[in-house]
Amino acid sequence: MGTVREIEINSSINESEIVVREFDPSKDLTSVEEVEKRCEVGPSGKLSLFTDLLGDPICRVRHSPAFLMLVAELSSTKEIVGMIRGCIKTVTCGKKLSRNTKNDPTTKTLPIYTKVAYILGLRVSPSHRRMGIGKKLVHRMEEWFVQNGAEYSYLATENDNHASVNLFTNKCGYSKFRTPSVLVNPVFAHRLPVSNRVTLIKLSSSDAESLYRRRFSTTEFFPRDIDSVLNNSLNLGTFLAVPRGCGYTQPSWPGADQFLFDPPESWAVLSVWNCKDVFRLEVRGASRMRKTLAKTTRILDKFLPFLRLPSIPELFRPFGLHFLYGLGGEGPSAAKFVKALCAHAHNLAKEGGCSVVATEVANLEPLKVGVPHWKRLSCDEDLWCIKRLGEDYSDGSVGDWTKSPPGLSIFVDPREF
Ligand SMILES: CC(C)(COP(=O)(O)OP(=O)(O)OC[C@H]1O[C@@H](n2cnc3c(N)ncnc32)[C@H](O)[C@@H]1OP(=O)(O)O)[C@@H](O)C(=O)NCCC(=O)NCCS
Repeated sequence: MGTVREIEINSSINESEIVVREFDPSKDLTSVEEVEKRCEVGPSGKLSLFTDLLGDPICRVRHSPAFLMLVAELSSTKEIVGMIRGCIKTVTCGKKLSRNTKNDPTTKTLPIYTKVAYILGLRVSPSHRRMGIGKKLVHRMEEWFVQNGAEYSYLATENDNHASVNLFTNKCGYSKFRTPSVLVNPVFAHRLPVSNRVTLIKLSSSDAESLYRRRFSTTEFFPRDIDSVLNNSLNLGTFLAVPRGCGYTQPSWPGADQFLFDPPESWAVLSVWNCKDVFRLEVRGASRMRKTLAKTTRILDKFLPFLRLPSIPELFRPFGLHFLYGLGGEGPSAAKFVKALCAHAHNLAKEGGCSVVATEVANLEPLKVGVPHWKRLSCDEDLWCIKRLGEDYSDGSVGDWTKSPPGLSIFVDPREF
């Protein structure tokens, strides 16, 4: 990689007509929002998801260590017809065994890190599709990735987004890599009860960091800068669930090191990220009947909360969500503790005025059964595609990560959801 390959442009537009340059917030804001709007509204008669980036087109990458947004502009009219965002960070791509010193011959499992780049928010104006603009934006973004030492580039897309899947796999050299599940649960008008057999403990960000580094740093996609994720103001906290009466409580919490030295038989952990302050979603295209039905369930739930009706949340006006990440745990009852944590997260989201709580876990994640979700709002297989950009960055012991089988778990970075 390193040069932009020649691009076949259809007869109505030629290569020199498209200029790809960095997004300039001082002059591009309105036009970028226009393209975004035109892209999100789906065909009439069908439901479509609209994203409101709250006036900040870079919001979904700006919390990553390095990020870039490019726009495609028609050189004659200066009209913006496409854009792409990308970010780069260091994550775990495998693990290795390492022997301790001569005096301590025990072995430890250590993460192997690599620099990965992530592509998101690729959009081309409907009036300018199939002219090679999407491909050109991807290639330009990959050039920046390579210049910054990224070994891999990846992206998430819906399995049935044929335009996107074809563009990346047929034309840009990506292969299908992982298919994690996006699990979405509504936020009801009533609070969810947390099992009285569970004690919840809120961890400080430094405690959460040491727990994650010690237990989850060998999970693939674990971000090496987990501390900046946990210290970000969008992070609403890390919560631990343990059996009531096991000796660990909030006031007597001895710290993560002591806890991991002598953990209870089962426990679970998760962290909550506030996406509501970054973007809002809106389902468009629903019939009036569907909207009225949803509203009726909410009104009933609000006035009769003790009935605990599974009401349909507000999805047809811009709504916010919380994202649950860093989900993990150990022991035979870990999934039950995850369920208690999800109930707590639901109540936090209700207080925060959100309509849904979402999480993304590996397809084979054993704790998935503990995450309550509505199938109709969720996506069983989110498709992650990957491409190797270079070979000499990670220490070679993993080989080509793109060829490796999926693990039981995956760490989904909340900065990229
Ligand atoms: C996906 C998207 C960015 C493609 O942009 P584009 O400028 O039309 O793509 P290109 O012209 O560069 O197409 C390159 C290749 O992608 C594939 N492709 C693009 N659109 C396609 C479609 N509608 N159906 C099938 N394949 C398609 C083709 O292989 C195409 O090559 P070809 O034209 O020689 O057959 C555009 O359709 C879009 O903005 N969609 C809505 C937003 C979205 O889904 N973004 C992707 C999220 S990851």
